[in-house]
Amino acid sequence: MTRLLVLYYSRTGNTEKMAKAVAEGARSVMGMDVELNYYMSLEELVGYDAMVVGVATYHHDMPVTFKSYFEEAAVKNVNLKGKTGAAFGSYGWSGEAPKLILEILKNKFEMNVTEPPLSIKYTPDQIGLDKCFGLGRRVAESLIPRT
Ligand SMILES: Cc1cc2nc3c(=O)[nH]c(=O)nc-3n(C[C@H](O)[C@H](O)[C@H](O)COP(=O)(O)O)c2cc1C
Repeated sequence: MTRLLVLYYSRTGNTEKMAKAVAEGARSVMGMDVELNYYMSLEELVGYDAMVVGVATYHHDMPVTFKSYFEEAAVKNVNLKGKTGAAFGSYGWSGEAPKLILEILKNKFEMNVTEPPLSIKYTPDQIGLDKCFGLGRRVAESLIPRT
């Protein structure tokens, strides 16, 4: 099985709705083992082939918990090189968080990032949820080896 993690932070539920749709999209791809969670230990993180991170923007930044999480991963030399990374999140007016996450995944952890950040203003409507589903599906499909 190919393993994909959707790891998210959401205070009022908007990014959580996005995360559920991303996970659903990934699950629509055959052979995909998808975990949806707001926490994952660093030891377990290395067991995933892809990490799709969902973060709401607060104070023009990513959540402090995620900042510390990635700092700890860097200090402990957690090896994510070559794994697939993507990011999304709800925002109100500036929406920096998913972009910041992608920069870290790509530049610090040398993950393979192909999708641009997916940002949705406040609560996702059906069109937004479809975009989230599409993101999850495309990331999952990219993990399936072509024969
Ligand atoms: C105290 C506070 C600070 C915020 N700061 C920002 C911000 O700097 N930029 C932005 O785009 N949205 C900001 N927002 C809006 C949130 O990103 C938005 O409400 C989002 O939908 C929350 O997602 P969540 O329900 O997943 O937590 C802020 C909201 C609050 C309550």
